[in-house]
This record gives sequence, C-alpha cells and structure tokens, in this order.
Amino acid sequence: MITTNYLIIGSGVAGLTFAIKIADRFPDKKITIATKANADESNTKYAQGGIAIVTDKDEDSYQKHIQDTLICGDGLCDEEVVKMVVTEGPKRLKELISWGAQFDKNSEGNLDLGKEGGHSENRVVHHKDQTGSEIERAILMQVYQKENITVLDHHFAIDLITENNRCLGASILNQKTNEITNYQSEITILATGGIGHLYGHTTNPIIATGDGIAMASRAHATITEMEFIQFHPTALYDTSTGSKFLISEAVRGFGAYLRTKNGHRFMKDYDSREELASRDIVSQSIDLELKKSGDDCVYLDCTHLDLAAFIKHFPMIYKHCKNIGIDISKDWIPVVPAQHYLCGGITVDKNGKTSIENLFACGECSRTGLHGANRLASNSLLEALVYSDKIYSYLANTTISSSTSKTIISDWKSETKPEIDSNYLATLKAKLQLLMRQNAGIVRYDSDLLKAKKQLLLWQDEMKKIAETHQISAAYYELLNMIAVATLIVEQSIVRKENRGGFIKFNSSK
Ligand code: FAD
Ligand code: SIN
Repeated sequence: MITTNYLIIGSGVAGLTFAIKIADRFPDKKITIATKANADESNTKYAQGGIAIVTDKDEDSYQKHIQDTLICGDGLCDEEVVKMVVTEGPKRLKELISWGAQFDKNSEGNLDLGKEGGHSENRVVHHKDQTGSEIERAILMQVYQKENITVLDHHFAIDLITENNRCLGASILNQKTNEITNYQSEITILATGGIGHLYGHTTNPIIATGDGIAMASRAHATITEMEFIQFHPTALYDTSTGSKFLISEAVRGFGAYLRTKNGHRFMKDYDSREELASRDIVSQSIDLELKKSGDDCVYLDCTHLDLAAFIKHFPMIYKHCKNIGIDISKDWIPVVPAQHYLCGGITVDKNGKTSIENLFACGECSRTGLHGANRLASNSLLEALVYSDKIYSYLANTTISSSTSKTIISDWKSETKPEIDSNYLATLKAKLQLLMRQNAGIVRYDSDLLKAKKQLLLWQDEMKKIAETHQISAAYYELLNMIAVATLIVEQSIVRKENRGGFIKFNSSK
C-alpha cells in the first residue's frame, strides 16, 4: 500500500489544475496523479473551439452569458451555479495565462473572441482550433515542475476504497507491471472525463469510457442526469467506428452553412438562429433531415468564406480536410452528429463534494448543475477550471476529518488465472456500442430503452462471472465500466418523462 495526501485520478484540465494549486499551497504534502494513458491524453487535449468567458464588457456582459447558458440548459440549470461559474471565468483565464497558456489576439492586441452555437455574443477565447492542446501543454508543464506531485501514467484506477461512506483512496493497476496497489489518501478527486466510447461514434479519444462514474456508482455515490448526452452536430463523416474528427462549431460561428446533399440550408426551417442554434437543436434537425432523405450525412459549406482567414483560425481543420482530399474552398465537408459530451455525472455541491465523504469530482465526470439539459458550447473547460478552484479553496480552508491513518486497507491479492480473450472483450464492446447508438441516441423510445436495459443487465452478469475465473485487466474494467455507465444512461432515460434540451423520448415504439 502507498500513502499520499491527495490522490487525483485523471490528467485533463480538471485534475491538473487542481494539482498545481494544492501543490503550491501545501509544499509538504504529497500529491499523486494516476492516469491511464500518456499523461496528456484526455478530452481536454482535443478541445477546439475554446473557453467561453466574458472578457469584453463593452459588447458582452455576465448577464448575457448567464442567460445563454440558462436558455441552452432548457430550464434544468442551477441558476446559482451558472452565476458562480460565469462570473469566475475571467479570474481562471488570468491564471491559465500566468501558467503559460497562450490565446489568440486580434490586430488591436485584445483577445480574439470566437462565436459558437447558443452564444448571443462573441466570447470564446481560443488558441487557433487547438485550444485544449495548448492548455494541456501549459498545465502539464507546470505539474512536472512541482516536486511534491508524482504523475503515474499508464496507471488505471480500478475501484475506490470506501468504508462507511468515506473514501480512503483507490486500487490502481500499473499497466506496465500488471501489479495492483492500494493508494491510501486523505482526499480523492475523480477527474476521469467523459464517456464517448460507449457509443463508438464519438468525438472523444479512446480514454473516454466513463471509469470514474462507474467507480463512484459501485461505491454508491449519487449520480444524476445521465440521460443528457450531448451529440455534436458536425463530426466529420466517415464509415468507420471509433473516434471522429471534429469540425468545430466555431466554423459555423465563422459563417459556414449547413446544407443537405441538394444544397438546401435546412437550419432556416428549424430555428431563427439558423446554423448557430444551440447544439441540441442543430443535432436534432440534422437527425430529422437524414431520416427524411435517407442520406448518410449533411454538409458544411465553407466555400464562401475568406480562405486566408479560415486557415489562420482553423489550421488543423483545414489541414485534416486537405489530407483526406477535401478542399474547403471548393468542396463541402460531409458531417454527422456524434456523441460528444455528458452533461450529467457524479453529483457534486458547489465545493465539488460528492455524496461520499472525502471524495470530490471535477470536470466532465461531474454533474454540477451548470449544464442542465444541454451544455452551452465552450462552457466545459470553464466549468472544470472553476470547480477545480472551488475544490482547492474548500480544501485549503477546511480541516479534513480523516480516519485513513488508522484504517487498515488490506493489500490486493494477486492470483494466477487465465487471461480474458481479447476478442471476446472487443466483440462485446462493439455490441454495446451498437446497442447504445440504436437505443440511446438523439431520439429514444421507451420500448427500446427497456429492451436495452434487459440486455445490459445480462452483460453485467456475464462480466461478473468472467472475473471469477479469469485475471482482470484494464480492458476488462473499461468494458465493465462502460456497461455500468450505459445502464445508468438507459435507466435514467426511462425515468425521465418530459423532453428537454438534448433529451427526446417517445413513449411509443419506433
Ligand atoms: P479529460 O480531459 O477527459 O481527462 C480525463 C482524464 O482521466 C484522462 O487523463 C484519462 O486518461 C483519465 N482517466 C480516465 N479514466 C481513468 C482511470 N480509470 N484511471 C486513471 N485515469 C483515468 N469543451 C470546451 O469547453 N470547449 C471546447 O472547445 C471543447 N472542444 C472539444 C472538442 C473535442 C474533440 C472534445 C472531445 C471535447 C471538447 N470539449 C470542449 C469538451 C472538453 O474538452 C472536456 O469536457 C474537458 O476537457 C474534460 O476535462 P476533464 O479534465 O474533465 O477530463
Ligand atoms: C467545438 O469546438 O465545436 C467544441 C466546443 C465544445 O464542445 O464546447
């Protein structure tokens, strides 16, 4: 067993920014970050559009950003939380800049502000179309400079250790040695990100398998609003499954049009904000158009835009399209909606505390009340920054009652059992992804959800039985977690009766 003061699971924006602050405040305390892939691999790294922050108080105001967030959340946001997050944005941006993150400026030397769906003003602070990668670079560099932080990459957290509703740490599998070690910590922070790979078709990287939510669920933490899955309207269309390249919403903010194969600008038929309606509305409109036409995709038309300015703002998107034979000055980009973000998650209060003592959750795995039924574009990085600061401030000013030093945590027993057939896991994962796409997508039906729940419960039993006779692995746990999180999504979709934001369900069958 290894002891640490703070155990952080996940190395995206949520985990790393908390680590930097707590390490500075308590130089004598030990901070351990466990992360299951390379340290920089995260949803954070792929964020394109930017961070929604009110910086230009002449044109914009906190009130407008608050209002846009509330409209997008379709009546289910916690207004107090929305106010808190929006008004703290500028302080968190200053901090990011002080850590070395760079953001684009206009010719007057002010921050260049992009626009995305649901925003009434230009307020998205960005670094070209690679905002997340710039942030991850800067904060990881800060983390590596702190002597009291240990980063354990390729370390997969498999379960929380709890006793009487108190978290004592976590069991972690070192993927390089296959050893499982219990980490005893005074405070544990889940910062494990999203769930995209439950759907297969997703903008998320391969690490997004909902592990933190599944672990918290096994420990009986409160988990809510899992039915609110956000589908991004414009993932690049291709026929493969797996991660999809994102065409940022900021491209529509820059003036691109959505068209059917025949050239019809269909968003005019659905919403007065046209291509810049909120994400739920654009995705649902595309879904309807595709069902009507039987086509596989719709198109994003950038051909009328200033090419030089486009390349300056979106160099990665331009290059990616070019590499696959799409010349955006002449060709339309084929796009489809794909899973992008989870609005619900592990329920936390305004200090990031979960329902389990000494366990906090931050970032995409948490449910704070900011997003309600649909997240406003570029509010996610902002939420993670504000909440990691809230958790830090709370812990910096509170004496934690900790019984961990007295509690004996028994070591993990290693047993020699046969390995699980990797083909079996891959096949079951593909079946799960298909089940989620077919039954828990943009439009859901109660009858499908009930059938899906039955199947998920069967797979849960099957997975439990396998663990009795085989050696567990990270791949096994990822699939177990994906099935557990899928079950939460399906169950909570069944329970929600009214359609809100990104959630549409019919009581009939298809
Ligand atoms: P992540 O950044 O996903 O980090 C999670 C970490 O947890 C990873 O390091 C992962 O390896 C680790 N982990 C997971 N499970 C385990 C485990 N079992 N054991 C150990 N480690 C584990 N939001 C915006 O606000 N603006 C944008 O422009 C924007 N663009 C986006 C573009 C794309 C393509 C994507 C995918 C998302 C985008 N988002 C955007 C959403 C935003 O990037 C994420 O919601 C946010 O970065 C999540 O940060 P996080 O720290 O909570 O999680
Ligand atoms: C994008 O750039 O379109 C993604 C923005 C977000 O998810 O907030």
